[in-house]
Amino acid sequence: MHVPELIAYLNGRFAPLAELTVPVLDRGFLFGDGVYEMIPVYGRRPFRLAEHLKRLAASLAAVRIDNPHDEATWSALVLELIARQPFGDQSIYLQVTRGAAYPRNHAIPARATPTVLLFADPLNPPATVLVEQGVAAVGMEDPRWQRCDIKTISLLGNVLARAASVDAAAAETVMFRDGLLTEGSASNIFTVKNGLLLTPAPSNRMLTGITYDVVLELARRHGPPPVIRPVTEAEVRSADELWLTSSSKEILAIVSLDGIPIGNGAPGPIYRRMYGHYQQFKAGEMRPGEETP
Ligand code: PDD
Repeated sequence: MHVPELIAYLNGRFAPLAELTVPVLDRGFLFGDGVYEMIPVYGRRPFRLAEHLKRLAASLAAVRIDNPHDEATWSALVLELIARQPFGDQSIYLQVTRGAAYPRNHAIPARATPTVLLFADPLNPPATVLVEQGVAAVGMEDPRWQRCDIKTISLLGNVLARAASVDAAAAETVMFRDGLLTEGSASNIFTVKNGLLLTPAPSNRMLTGITYDVVLELARRHGPPPVIRPVTEAEVRSADELWLTSSSKEILAIVSLDGIPIGNGAPGPIYRRMYGHYQQFKAGEMRPGEETP
């Protein structure tokens, strides 16, 4: 395995990623006992950093890991990592696990020091062809647990969901629970029907994406006004437009689901408008004071 010579951070020290190791007794390794964030960075400016750190704090609280840092310390760590990379557009991966404990025991240990890992990858926005032509997706029953609102590193359900679309040479798996849309394996999902933008409300059945929130803000500002309510599988399959959103994929149109075209099988007009608003927002409309802590 080739690991690039990039500077990463583990438990108080910056060092090349390839040199960093954690103990095999780390509960992240043994139990998937930890949480993470993926923060996009454009031109060395973290996008919505405060919101990512807020979601991190909420995930940590939900799994009963004491937050190892306050917001100012997290921001400083992220900014230092950004400064140490040779490229400006970055994807910052930030992970906190419960740390190492012996003996192995499901019970949460009374004392364990969380393991904090951060590293950066170059961030490449989706290729123009994907933006212009859209992507294929497959649908499946959501195989995950009841706390999908926590951004946990326990991702086997998401991994197996994604495997279904990999098998079909598609870009994403759209999941349904009890006949209702939940989300994608690593994205949130929006539908457009008769000019209305529909998406499920945040709940334990999905992760509230930072991009999801941005798209809702942009829709409220520029239209179409979003309708936040349960979305049925039938509504997804008969949508005029279907989108996925995430920090790395931004907004992409899903133009077929299980091989059946969505709308006319091409990215729709409302998608194209929203994509434009999102790019403008990225380029300069970030709220003052937000892009830098
Ligand atoms: N995943 N839902 C799930 C299950 C996700 O994994 C993600 C993002 C989202 C969108 O969240 P955001 O807009 O904050 O990126 C929704 C990231 C990109 C990842 O796992 O790397």
